Amino acid sequence: MAFCAINLCVMVAFPRWETIPFYFIWISLTLVYGFRAWSAKSTACVVAVVTLATFAAIGYDVSVHVQSAGELDEVPLMAAMFGLMVWHVQRRLAADGEWRLVSEENARLLSMQRRFLQDASHQLRTPITIALGHAELLAQDLSGRTERSDVDVVVGELTRLRRLGERLLVIAASEDPEFLRPEPVALNSFIAQVIRKWIPTAPRRWELGRLDPVTVNGDRERLGLALDALLENAVRHTGAGDAIRLSVVVKDGAPHMIVADTGSGIAPSELESIFDRFRTGIGAGGSRGTGLGLALVRAVAHAHGGEILARSEPGLGSEFEFVFPARAADDPATSADELAVPPGTDPCDADTTAMEEPWPNGIR
Ligand SMILES: Nc1ncnc2c1ncn2[C@@H]1O[C@H](COP(=O)(O)OP(=O)(O)OP(=O)(O)O)[C@@H](O)[C@H]1O
Ligand SMILES: [Mg+2]
Repeated sequence: MAFCAINLCVMVAFPRWETIPFYFIWISLTLVYGFRAWSAKSTACVVAVVTLATFAAIGYDVSVHVQSAGELDEVPLMAAMFGLMVWHVQRRLAADGEWRLVSEENARLLSMQRRFLQDASHQLRTPITIALGHAELLAQDLSGRTERSDVDVVVGELTRLRRLGERLLVIAASEDPEFLRPEPVALNSFIAQVIRKWIPTAPRRWELGRLDPVTVNGDRERLGLALDALLENAVRHTGAGDAIRLSVVVKDGAPHMIVADTGSGIAPSELESIFDRFRTGIGAGGSRGTGLGLALVRAVAHAHGGEILARSEPGLGSEFEFVFPARAADDPATSADELAVPPGTDPCDADTTAMEEPWPNGIR
């Protein structure tokens, strides 16, 4: 206001130079208006005052024959330009307001959906566990009898239902800010521990590939769930003679946790959608999955700021890469014995150069 008043005085005091203070007034008005949009009413009042004041000042300069009457045209033109700018700002504000409403609504719907998934999984868990417990008891009582196979089907389906509930819970929770409890995780020893757990579960050629000594900031439990889901798939889609290899490779500063197998592989047409929820591909082996394993892996990868990549060749095998964000926090803290795994898969025995050779199925 003071600045405008001074400029108005200058317009009258120095009529020859009235253009500069005239523009200073409108520029300063635009500047102040831009910081926070005023209500339509106060905007209209201020614009009216400024328009009249500058018009009067120029009118004075015309009356003393220093300026031509044509100068007066600038006032309504400037006011019109300012008005247009106000209109755009109002439209932008309205659009932002709509946008905020929509995103708030989306956030509300998303959290409702998440809460529903969490509640549903919780509610499902108890009766399933009870039913499963009883079915398993029944199966024991019926061992050796024909009815046993029916009860086994029940146990199988209840187990699948329980896993479905657990996975839904993890996927639903994955977008919660508190989803992860990050800690330094030395990937090579983490991988060694996981493979040790899996070796007894299925007769495969379990192998450890390259194990770059890298530590990531991650949630050990969630990473374990993701790796289990990948290994479960690898076991389900391989046969006794097939190999399953786990590796840790740092590429361009980003640690990659790789699970590769020489199993059935995935058709290119399916590769696109295997990460979608409830997507179970053709040839999923004997037991039926819930189609949530890879969706869970992707949720855990995204929660760590990373991603999951898949490459596969039907008949040659598949390779899944859990990629952490590019932060190479080298930590060779891993002690030698932590890497030791049972005979036949001990990476130390293997000729490391062999590990650099291309993976038999050529997809590496
Ligand atoms: N290593 C693999 N080799 C071949 N096919 C695979 C492999 N991993 C995943 N797939 C394909 O991707 C599909 C989706 O995998 P995902 O783990 O999400 O679901 P699922 O294994 O069918 O069920 P769930 O893991 O929930 O029990 C599988 O059904 C399978 O067709
Ligand atoms: Mg699976």
